[in-house]
Amino acid sequence: MTSQTLREARKYEEALEKTIRKEERPEFHLTPRTGWMNDPNGFSWYKGQYHMFYQYYPYESKWGPMHWGHAVSRDLLRWEYLPAALAPDEFYDMGGCFSGSAIELPDGRQLLMYTGVTEESRHCGSRRDSLQTQCVAVGDGVDYEKYEHNPVLDEKDLPEGGSKVDFRDPKIWRRKDGAYCCIVGNRPADGSGQILFYTSEDAFHWKFKNVLVSNFNRFGKMWECPDLFELDGKWVLLTSPQDMLPEGFEYHNGNGTLCLIGDFNEETGVFQEMHSQSIDYGIDFYAPQTVLTPDGRRVMMGWMQNWDSCGIRSPEDPWFGQMSLPRELSVRNNRLYQAPTKELDAMRHNRVEYTGVTVADTVWLEGIKGRKIDLELTIRLGDSQEPYQKFAVRFAQNERYHTSLSFRPRESILKIDRKFSGSRRASIHQRRSLVRTPGDELKLRIILDRFSVEVFVNDGEQVLSATMYTEQAAEGISFFADGTVNLDVVKYDLG
Ligand code: FRU
Repeated sequence: MTSQTLREARKYEEALEKTIRKEERPEFHLTPRTGWMNDPNGFSWYKGQYHMFYQYYPYESKWGPMHWGHAVSRDLLRWEYLPAALAPDEFYDMGGCFSGSAIELPDGRQLLMYTGVTEESRHCGSRRDSLQTQCVAVGDGVDYEKYEHNPVLDEKDLPEGGSKVDFRDPKIWRRKDGAYCCIVGNRPADGSGQILFYTSEDAFHWKFKNVLVSNFNRFGKMWECPDLFELDGKWVLLTSPQDMLPEGFEYHNGNGTLCLIGDFNEETGVFQEMHSQSIDYGIDFYAPQTVLTPDGRRVMMGWMQNWDSCGIRSPEDPWFGQMSLPRELSVRNNRLYQAPTKELDAMRHNRVEYTGVTVADTVWLEGIKGRKIDLELTIRLGDSQEPYQKFAVRFAQNERYHTSLSFRPRESILKIDRKFSGSRRASIHQRRSLVRTPGDELKLRIILDRFSVEVFVNDGEQVLSATMYTEQAAEGISFFADGTVNLDVVKYDLG
């Protein structure tokens, strides 16, 4: 039975969606149907389509009592909205239906597992004394019924010292032997983060197994939105720590992302950490979640936003928050690699190519412009008599605005800078990342989609993501070097 709260949300979003023009949204990045969006939730393949749910407050473009928005797609790029799936309408989730995941049950129904928050919750305010528990809802891909015995995990299922107010974001999966597993983020007595591991025979009755990983105050504090999967012979744990501190150029302060690569024994629940890195090195990326595609690819999408820079958009805007591109993951040499999913190739048209262009000072190239493009650059040292100190590509550019990527070969630092993107607040506008230049070459693949840029460095060894809400008339692209650079450019329009 659909509650009054959910019916109202569905009616509201259907009406408001019609007031937003297509051009006011990105072309192939998912945005909320209306109002506010944060984390991806329940990213899954079900009944022949990808399902993406999201943290959602339809009534305003700011965070409020969380609903689950819902969209489906066949190619991960063109999304169609479905009615909101969950609303905060039970005593155990009145404060919000927080993040979670989805799985198909053996009887063909889909199960959503999420965090129910009781009413006192204030996400960004000082009071965080509400209870967080794990709940489930079962449905047919459109309508979901909350389980009558919710919550399925509560404070009784915490290890000693585990916080009942920071206990959230369950990620569920099924083991080869049929048993269900889930991991949940939690805050132990030392105030940092830990990931808890639970198992179940039927996805409704859960047992605490063990602490899968302890942060011990190494990477930030509370770990949010964990995901765990096997990939290329390793196990990968993704999580989003709060209150991070930078370690050189790895991680940045505030809400960050962390990837641990190691080994995991599904029987014993022991995760052995071997390597750690950031997931994204740009400004806007948080709380990613993955899906296994029917052809066996591990694809990740994240919230292309950061809690620390939400002020970049006005609450007057009709929508807030976008998902990142779907990115195909792989592990090579103990590093996480990301590439835009192959589905993006089908969107490419109008190829323009330049080979061996000498860039000395500012260069504009005929046919290289736009705000929905796929741009591949190979940057090499030009005339060795005149080595360059700085190379830059500027985009979303007109007389007034530009966003830039600049590279300083001496320090091997790539910097993204959106200071001149027309943003209305002095929020975070720059990030620097240490990159490699194998064979003295730097390769960048830059994807623009109206209000964002995602940069895949050296075939996805690193990625930098940022939103930019520059007026669309700013569509120029130029190249600059203060010595000489030898540049290859391939551009496609996307859409
Ligand atoms: C992460 C997060 C989650 C929580 C959700 C609430 O961005 O804080 O931990 O479930 O957002 O909207």
